[in-house]
Amino acid sequence: LREEDPVHWSPSLKSWIISRYADVRDLLLSDHLSVRRLMQFYSALPPQDAALLSDIVKYLDLWLAFRDPPDHTRVRRILRHAFTPKAVDAMRPGIEEIVSHLLDRLEAKDANRIDLIREYALLVPAYVIMDMLEVPRDMLDEFKSWSDDMAVFIGGARNSDDKYARAARGCQKMSSYFRDIISERSANPRPGFLMDLINARDEGDQLTEDELVATCILILFAGHETTTNLIGNATLLLLRHPEQLAALRAEPALIDGAIEEVLRFDGPTNALVRVVAQDHELEGRKMREGERVFVMVNSANRDPRAFDEPDRFDISRNPNRHLTFGQGIHVCLGARLAREEGRIAVMELMKRFPDLALDDEPPEWLDAMVPRGTRRLPVR
Ligand code: HEM
Repeated sequence: LREEDPVHWSPSLKSWIISRYADVRDLLLSDHLSVRRLMQFYSALPPQDAALLSDIVKYLDLWLAFRDPPDHTRVRRILRHAFTPKAVDAMRPGIEEIVSHLLDRLEAKDANRIDLIREYALLVPAYVIMDMLEVPRDMLDEFKSWSDDMAVFIGGARNSDDKYARAARGCQKMSSYFRDIISERSANPRPGFLMDLINARDEGDQLTEDELVATCILILFAGHETTTNLIGNATLLLLRHPEQLAALRAEPALIDGAIEEVLRFDGPTNALVRVVAQDHELEGRKMREGERVFVMVNSANRDPRAFDEPDRFDISRNPNRHLTFGQGIHVCLGARLAREEGRIAVMELMKRFPDLALDDEPPEWLDAMVPRGTRRLPVR
């Protein structure tokens, strides 16, 4: 597609597929596309489902990721006060402690093979986010089940009443948990990310209580599976490129470049989704208001017009201007944190297990259009 039909209309998806670097970057920077209008895919529900899912839709409606300017500008300005480099740097010791604790557990395990996703890549970002949002670590299973239930609806499944009921229940549990902890923290201030979020202000304006709850849920969804895929894809790529792994082991300062190259070569998200906000033309094709657009960042990251030998995995690639964290006003707010987690999790894993190798059982890739990562990654 990238070579022959870079602005492709997919009749089965009823959407545009944009695959070249320059088009992806320019579209994300333009005001021709809207994220707000994606809400139409969530809010167009038959009356009985609309009643059941009204709470979830209410929170999605408040997500930064589904807002256009000027609404988006207001919330983003407030939120950036909680995501400063200083705030992220303060999380580093916590990430190191989580990684070290999980690696101790792996080391103590008496098994020939482990699934790196289930036993490590899922857990690092889960515990980091739980710590940020002050969810006790022993609530992991419960918390995960609420978010899995909600993900059924947020991820776009449109098939069963039972799943909708579960999604609604998950949202009810999760939102009331966050509401309680926000009110407890407001009454008893204690330094940390949640306090920064509650206190975040821009010119006297701050998030409402519903916006705070919605933001906690957004952080959970935006920062978990993505970072899991970063850690999983990094491990897989390094084990498949032993000469690159050897270079990294010999010179650990290469970890920054290694993480950037993983983000480019096999980024955690294949596509970003938008709706055309106003008619315009791209590469000679007419895109009309209301049509859905898949902006393929991973394809852009392999575009030979933008990268030399794009299909070569090279941790010393420089410059490496991948589009994996997006571009423009919605560029990832958690990028600094994700990079920090990726660097610590991957470097410490490689240090602690010098003989780590892929198992004979092959990895299982996720069967999905948007996330890019493995569901199972057996290593020994
Ligand atoms: C937005 C990627 C980790 C929080 C985004 C966007 C991308 C992205 C591409 C823009 C979406 C769009 O334009 O439609 C990633 C990747 C990650 C990662 C690849 C991991 C490797 C995180 C983490 C957090 C986070 C750890 C927070 C804890 C957010 C938020 C937004 C966002 C709040 C919405 C920004 C806005 O709409 O203005 N992320 N992300 N992300 N990300 Fe991340």
